[in-house]
Parts: sequence; C-alpha cells; structure tokens
Amino acid sequence: MSSPSLFPPSLQRLGSWAHRFLGEALGDGDLAVDLTAGNGHDTLFLWQQVAPSGEVVAFDLQEEALVSCQRRLTEAAVPLSPTPAAGSVSLVAESHENLEGYLTRPPRAVIANLGYLPGSHSSLATEASTSVAALTSALDLLAGGGRLAVTVYSLHPGAAQEAAAVTALFSSLSPNEWETLQLQLPNRKTPPSLLMARKR
Ligand SMILES: C[S@@+](CC[C@H](N)C(=O)[O-])C[C@H]1O[C@@H](n2cnc3c(N)ncnc32)[C@H](O)[C@@H]1O
Repeated sequence: MSSPSLFPPSLQRLGSWAHRFLGEALGDGDLAVDLTAGNGHDTLFLWQQVAPSGEVVAFDLQEEALVSCQRRLTEAAVPLSPTPAAGSVSLVAESHENLEGYLTRPPRAVIANLGYLPGSHSSLATEASTSVAALTSALDLLAGGGRLAVTVYSLHPGAAQEAAAVTALFSSLSPNEWETLQLQLPNRKTPPSLLMARKR
C-alpha cells in the first residue's frame, strides 16, 4: 500500500502548502490567527483544524472582506463571536499589527496572505511597514513549536518593497530559535512566494 503523498495535487498552489504546514501543528482547542481574512478561505481552514473548542482570530481592514469572510463562515455553520472566545471565530475590523490586544494566549499558528482582496475592485492592499509590524508581533507571540506561513505577491503597488521587507525579516531570524523555509515558482514571471517559520 502506498503512503499518502507529501505534495499537494498542484505543486504551484502555495496556499495548499501553507495549509499543510500549519494544519500539522494544529488540533482541537488551539488558538490560530489569520492576519488577512479576505474572502475567508484561510480563516475557515484554520477553524476546521481547531474546532470545536479552539479559537480563530481573523483581521481585515476592509468591510468588503469582512462581509465576504463572514458569509463563507456562516455558510459553513462556524460559530462566530463579536470578541475573541474559545469555541468560535472572531472577525476583527482592525489593522493586523494590533493583533496582540486581541489574543489571550500564544497562538499555535499564524497565516498571512498578503496583497489585494481577490475579486475586489478596491485598491487597498497590504503594505510593507504594517505587514512587517504584524509579522514581527506574530513571531514574538507564537507558542513554542508554533508556525507562521506568509504568502507574498508581486503585483500590487509596493509589492516588491513588501516582499523584500518580509524576506529580510525571515532572514534575520536566529537559526537557534527558528527553522525557516521559502517556496518559489522559478518558471513564472511574477510569482508569489511562500515563507514559513517554525519556532523551536
Ligand atoms: C490576499 S487577501 C487575503 C485572502 C484571504 N486570506 C483568503 O483566504 O481569502 C489580503 C487581505 O488583506 C487585507 N489587508 C490589507 N491591509 C491590511 C491590514 N493592515 N490589516 C489587516 N488586513 C489587511 C485586505 O483587505 C485583503 O482582504
């Protein structure tokens, strides 16, 4: 009998790699954070890993994103809470660098999918300074053995600076405290990339 494949069905779906990496560290009762809720795919994934007694806190600045995320969660019968609470997902209309004020314990996993809200006409996208502030805080707050996955894109204004700043942050992590890994798509013209870190 063959063992289950390590690889997702499409090698180039970085979101699937991020989910595998984070999902392996999560279980019922854990706290997980989505720094960019967007349309809610990642938020729903995190909830499915920590349900029924865990907790997900998801941030977004855009009303359109929060509505879209909430719709996805409601359709999946996910319990929602106006404030972070065990056994629920809470959607926070706040910039992600303020995450510390919304967490009551160290998270086991944090995800960030940077860039634009897919399918939106809005020009609001993540920015280097706030993304780095949020990721720095997430790295500090992560539980021992906890994991961070960040997908960076190259198309929005400021994307190159943001990708460089996030890569520099990962490069600065002490190898004594962190294991890191970066996945890239070398045969694509404007490829996204996935950066992952595991706290020792
Ligand atoms: C690529 S989308 C996220 C996609 C999402 N993870 C999903 O599963 O659909 C990026 C999101 O980041 C949000 N965003 C931009 N700046 C932000 C900030 N400072 N704090 C929180 N969210 C922000 C945007 O509004 C957008 O919805």
